[in-house]
Amino acid sequence: MKYTNEELKEKIFELKERLSVTLVAHFYQRDEVFELADITGDSLELAKKTMNDDSEFVLFCGVAFMGQSVKVLSPKKRVVMPKLACCAMARMIDSLYYDESVKFLEENGIAKENILPITYINSNADVKAKVGEMGGMVCTSSNAKFIIETALKEGKKILFVPDRCLGQNIANQMGLQSMVIGQEGNPKEADIICYDGFCSVHQLFTLEDIAFYRKKFPGILIATHPECDPAICEASDFVGSTSQLIKYITELPEEQKVAVGTEFNMVNRLRPKNTYVLSSSKPECPTMNETTLEDVYLTLKAIEDGSPINEIEVDEKTQKWAKVALERMLAL
Ligand code: 13P
Ligand code: SF4
Repeated sequence: MKYTNEELKEKIFELKERLSVTLVAHFYQRDEVFELADITGDSLELAKKTMNDDSEFVLFCGVAFMGQSVKVLSPKKRVVMPKLACCAMARMIDSLYYDESVKFLEENGIAKENILPITYINSNADVKAKVGEMGGMVCTSSNAKFIIETALKEGKKILFVPDRCLGQNIANQMGLQSMVIGQEGNPKEADIICYDGFCSVHQLFTLEDIAFYRKKFPGILIATHPECDPAICEASDFVGSTSQLIKYITELPEEQKVAVGTEFNMVNRLRPKNTYVLSSSKPECPTMNETTLEDVYLTLKAIEDGSPINEIEVDEKTQKWAKVALERMLAL
C-alpha cells in the first residue's frame, strides 16, 4: 500500500516516539526528509554532534561516508541509512588508488616519511584508514585551510585526496604551489599534491554563469562551495562549506541578491527572495536525493521489527585507523 507524504510523516513521528533513534540529515537532503531531522549540519558538525548523542540508533540521511564516519567515531552506536548512497567523489578513490598516489610521489623523489596525507571527509573508511596509518588526518570543507596550515608546520609534502578542487582552492588562498596527479607539474616543486577526484555536481557551475548573473543583476554577490573549480571560487565573493554558506547568505540584507553555487535542495530553502541557483541547469546531487520519506519510514519500521536494514559495519582494523585520522582532525 502506498502512503501519502502526510501519512508517512505521521507514521515516522509515531515510530520515533517509541524508538531510541536520532534522525540526522545533511543540508542536501530533500525538504520533506530534512524537515524531520533532530540533527542537521555540514559534514564536520554532523560528525561532532552525533558523537554526543545517546540514542541507541542513528538514522543517517546523507551519503555513505557520513554514516560511516559516525560508526568509526562511535563504534558502539548502531548506524542505519535509509539508502546506502555513495558520494560520487568518494567513489573516485579506494585504498589501491591511494597507494598508487603515494607511489607516484615516491617515484618522483619524495620519500614516504616526507609525505603527510590529508583526506577530505568525502572518502570511504578504507582511505581514511590508510591516511591514519601514514600519520595523516581528515579535513572537511569548513576546516581544510586550518588543517592544511597546521599540517604544513611539519615541513612535509601534503598529499591531498580525493578532491583536487578543494586542495587547489586552499593552496590558492594560502599562496601555495599545488599540482594535480596526472596533470602538468613537478611534485618536488609543489607544496600540495592533489589526487584528481572531483564532485560532478559542483563542476556544473561555470564562469559563464557568473558573468550572466553579474550582468543581469549588477551588485549581485556570488557565493560558492570550495568543491567548485578554482576559477569559479576565485571569481566568487564568498567561498565556504554548506554551514558557512547558510550563515553568510541568511545574514545578508533582505534586498541583497546572491547567486549560490552548491546543491539545489539547500539553495532552494535558503531565503524566500533574492537568492538564485548559480546555474542554468538544476544542480541536484543524485545520491543525496536518493533518500525518500518512504525509505525513512521503512528503516524505522525495520528497527521496530527487530531486523534493522542497511546497518553500517566497518571492520576492526579499518575502524581503528580511520578513527585515528578523524580524531586527529577533531583534536585540532
Ligand atoms: P559540507 O561539509 O560543506 O556540508 O560538504 C559536504 C558535501 O558533500 C558537499 O558536496
Ligand atoms: Fe558527493 Fe558532490 Fe554529492 Fe557532495 S554534492 S555528496 S561531493 S557527489
